[in-house]
Amino acid sequence: MSLQPHGGLLVQAINSEKDVTHINKVIELDAIALSDLELIAIGGYSPIEGFLTQEDYESVVEHTRLASGVVWSIPITLPVAKDVAATLQPGDEAKLVYGDTVYGVIEIADIYEPNKRKESLLIYGTEDLQHPGVKKLHERPSIYVGGKITLVKRLEQKFPSYSFDPLETRRLFAEKGWQTIVGFQTRNPVHRAHEYIQKAALETIDGLFLNPLVGETKSDDVSAAIRMESYEVLLNNYYPENRVQLGVFPAAMRYAGPKEAIFHALVRKNYGCTHFIVGRDHAGVGDYYGTYDAQKIFEQFTEDELGIIPLKFEHSFYCNKCEGMATTKTCPHESSAHVILSGTKVREMLRNGEVPPSTFSRKEVVDVLIKGMRQEVIK
Ligand code: ADX
Repeated sequence: MSLQPHGGLLVQAINSEKDVTHINKVIELDAIALSDLELIAIGGYSPIEGFLTQEDYESVVEHTRLASGVVWSIPITLPVAKDVAATLQPGDEAKLVYGDTVYGVIEIADIYEPNKRKESLLIYGTEDLQHPGVKKLHERPSIYVGGKITLVKRLEQKFPSYSFDPLETRRLFAEKGWQTIVGFQTRNPVHRAHEYIQKAALETIDGLFLNPLVGETKSDDVSAAIRMESYEVLLNNYYPENRVQLGVFPAAMRYAGPKEAIFHALVRKNYGCTHFIVGRDHAGVGDYYGTYDAQKIFEQFTEDELGIIPLKFEHSFYCNKCEGMATTKTCPHESSAHVILSGTKVREMLRNGEVPPSTFSRKEVVDVLIKGMRQEVIK
């Protein structure tokens, strides 16, 4: 299987020499737009070259495709407030600013008012403002600006030794001699269930790209810094070094379940993966999505259209009677024998000083989480 980027060409839109001094229009970015700017520029979102124009936006929302027909499932948008929009016109260039720093430039193609109700229903499957993605969608400003971008300044990397552009990961995978690479998205510490499905994949795939999302997440998710430490101890103790590459995914979490699963897979294709793990309730939150909805959505597209193969895994757990990890596909025992803990329950246990069982999470990982929680409380 070839390692073609999505849409055929790996977008490269970085130019630190670009003169921005003559540009007087300014758009302030939020943390999500800043991470999207970077990901567009480094080719993570190929073939997207900028924030979506109205035509592409409507096509993504309604048809899960860009106007060109290429599959794309999450609108990558640049929201601006009405008073800012009033200062802008198609054809303008505007500086993209975060804090006091100019990170990019956009060539404005169009300025439009999105139908956020439709976006929330078709992308998130709900209009419920309790849904963290929908809440964020409505909190962001109400006018979208579309157009190609250039990144003029690289962002400071929070995890420099684990930050790789798609060009770099592609080179790394080639150097390692991996023909097949399975991408793993996570916003959590790697617990035994995650480890089980990763290692099941590694039985037939050459290499694992452990690619935790470190952009904006909801406040009760474990912080990226703590998670990174937990991945390090796990990899050092339980994974063969030459079969795994750890690298961060700087995007924000959308919690859009099925639509985000497609997006997560396409981006990992751009990073050079041939396969992508989709387990239970991928990118889900609360009860908004069915346990396997994020797997079923892959059936709507052909293998060629996606260009990355989903590896679908059942809900996995430790079974006390099997004395090992299993799923309902491999375990004949009743659910009372299964060790299943929700993320919320685990956080509650950790907060109360209770230690989750080693059948749920490796001791080394739990130690890091407990230490991290204490530090966060002290902060
Ligand atoms: S996610 O929002 O990034 O998807 P999480 O970090 O929990 O959340 O999941 C990472 C990947 O592991 C996803 O593909 C998810 O479906 C899968 N996964 C998480 N827990 C389990 C489990 N117990 N059994 C099978 N797959 C799981």
